[in-house]
Amino acid sequence: MENISDATRQFIDLRRHMWMENIEVDLRRLIWQIAVTGKYISSKIQESNRKLAGFENIYGEEQLALDRSSDEIIKRQLEFSGFVSHYASEERESIIQVGTGNEKYIVTADPLDGSSLVETNLAIGTIIGIHSESIMTGGDKSLVAAMYITYGPLITMIYSAGNGTHEFVLNREGEYVLSEEDITLEERGYIYSIGGLRRDWTREHLDYVRDLENEGYKLRYSGGFVPDLNQILIKKGGVFTYPALKNNPNGKLRLIFELQPMAFLTEQAGGMATDGRRRILSIQPETLDQRCPIYIGSTYEVEKAKTFLDGKTTTI
Ligand code: AHG
Ligand code: MN
Ligand code: MN
Repeated sequence: MENISDATRQFIDLRRHMWMENIEVDLRRLIWQIAVTGKYISSKIQESNRKLAGFENIYGEEQLALDRSSDEIIKRQLEFSGFVSHYASEERESIIQVGTGNEKYIVTADPLDGSSLVETNLAIGTIIGIHSESIMTGGDKSLVAAMYITYGPLITMIYSAGNGTHEFVLNREGEYVLSEEDITLEERGYIYSIGGLRRDWTREHLDYVRDLENEGYKLRYSGGFVPDLNQILIKKGGVFTYPALKNNPNGKLRLIFELQPMAFLTEQAGGMATDGRRRILSIQPETLDQRCPIYIGSTYEVEKAKTFLDGKTTTI
C-alpha cells in the first residue's frame, strides 16, 4: 500500500487495513475475531495474577490454568464463527471440530506463550496460524495467514495474510490501530536471542554463537518466544535460536503451534526461518506436537548458522 502519512496512519484500524489490503472477507473477519480475543486474554492475565490480589505469586497450577483459560477463550471465539472447521492448540491432545466441519479455515494456537513469565511481569504472547487445508501438509501449502499478540507495556498485534507483516497497537478505545506497516528486516542486525543451556549445545552451535559474540552481538533473551522474536522484528534484525540440544535433537519449540506462524511472519518481513538447514515452512509435520530446532531472524545470521551446522565454518 502506498506510504501513508503519519497524520492519516492513526485512523487506520485493523479492519480498514485488511480491507485496503484486499484480504478475502471471511479471512478479514476471522483475523479480526482472533485479534479481539487478545483483549479477553489480557484481562484474564490481570485477573489471575495473584500479585494484584495481594498474594505472593502465581502458583504452577494457576499458571497452567491461565494457559487453559486462554485456550478456552480462543476456542469459544472460533466456535460457530462460520469460518473455522477445526482448531488445534498446544493445550490439547488432538485437533477438535469447532464448526460444521466444512468451513474454510483451520486455526492453530499457542494460546499463551511464556506463561511462566507472568509472575515476573515480563511480556508474554499468543501465537496463531490460519490454514486453508490440513495442518499436516507443511506451512508452505497450508498457511494463509499468521498473527501474534504481545501482552507487554502495550498490547500489540502483528499479522500477515501474505502481503507483508504489519503491527497494530491496542489503543485506549479498544481499537487496534496501525503502528507499523510492511515491517522489513535489514540484511543483518546486532542482537542475538539464544535458548537452551550452553552445556547442552552441540559443538557446531557453540561455534556459531561464539562467532556472533566475536562480531559484537548483544544478548537479548527473556524466555518468551513472542517478545524475544518481536524485539528482532521491531529492531529490524538479529537472530532468535532455540537449537538442537545434545540430549534433545529436536530442541524445545513446537513446529505447528509456534514456529510455522512465526516463520510465515518473519519471511513476510524479508527474514528467514530454518531448523538450521531446512526452511521451517518447507517441513512437513509428522506429529501434531512435533518439536524442531529454530534459527529465525534476518538473513545474514540465519544463513551463517547453516554454514556452521553444515560444518563448513568453525571458529578455530
Ligand atoms: P510456552 O509457555 O508456550 O510453553 O512456551 C515457552 C517457550 C518459549 O516461549 C520460550 O522461547 C522457551 O519456552 C523458553 O525456554 P527456556 O525456559 O528453556 O529458556
Ligand atoms: Mn510457546
Ligand atoms: Mn503456550
